[in-house]
Amino acid sequence: MTHPLFEIVQTSMGVTSIKNKVVGEIMHNPVGPWAEANALYIDQSRLRERLTGAGSSHIAEELVVFDVGLGAAANAVATLSCARSLKVRRPLRLISFEVDLELLEFTLLHAASFDHLQGFEEAIETLLRKGEWTEEGITWQLRHGDFVKLIREETHSPHLIFYDPYSPKKNEEMWSSKVFGDLREKCANEEGTLLLTYSRATPIRVALLNAGFFVGVGLATGLKDETTQAATQLTQLSSPLDAGWLERWKRSHRALPLDAQAHEEPKIREQILAHEQFKTI
Ligand SMILES: C[S@@+](CC[C@H](N)C(=O)[O-])C[C@H]1O[C@@H](n2cnc3c(N)ncnc32)[C@H](O)[C@@H]1O
Repeated sequence: MTHPLFEIVQTSMGVTSIKNKVVGEIMHNPVGPWAEANALYIDQSRLRERLTGAGSSHIAEELVVFDVGLGAAANAVATLSCARSLKVRRPLRLISFEVDLELLEFTLLHAASFDHLQGFEEAIETLLRKGEWTEEGITWQLRHGDFVKLIREETHSPHLIFYDPYSPKKNEEMWSSKVFGDLREKCANEEGTLLLTYSRATPIRVALLNAGFFVGVGLATGLKDETTQAATQLTQLSSPLDAGWLERWKRSHRALPLDAQAHEEPKIREQILAHEQFKTI
């Protein structure tokens, strides 16, 4: 039977993925869910090194990962798979936020179409049923509801944030400086927080800067020549936005966060120009 919302499709590169027929987006197009999850989130965050605790004095403490937009669980399963592949590792708490579990339920029904889900069916099923799944040293929790509200009540502080809602065009509120500000308030741990996301749009980067993050260029993925990193410490960024970006931003017509009002422009421009990131350039 066909599903009213979702269908299994092949991306332009011939990889199996899922299309949301209403939003009109194929997830992780064109490289597919597994390649994108690993390149953009797992490898770029150096999750393996963080979990093995290389050079860290925090090895006994939990590493907390926020998976924002659980969707079909590719990023979550890539996180769990990375942890499972390591013998000795730091405890992991993966917190997945999702407003609508229909996609995950659809994915679980079609788990056989996705190689990366093999061996994780029981974990997904338990997460859906109980809101939590655990295995030695790994806790996977579901926060079911609207992230915009849930983030204000969250009690854990993330070390990593995999920020993967639908695109700003389709999911505007999730990319607002208000939501990034609420998220930034939760980034209170000593080790710092690194956020990775696929968007490279100027209003998103300005919203992140405005929320108090340092912001940099992230790895290329799929058809995107760059993505975005944001962090609570400048040293966590591999390529911080520089004087060239700031000059282009000053002339940009898309200079404000998506939720900014026109009258706020002078104040926001002043705040960005005074941001610590640009003080020395
Ligand atoms: C592109 S999909 C995520 C794909 C997923 N990360 C994966 O690896 O399969 C975007 C997801 O974000 C969820 N989402 C969008 N807005 C949300 C919100 N306000 N709160 C929680 N989840 C949201 C959508 O329901 C959708 O499942």
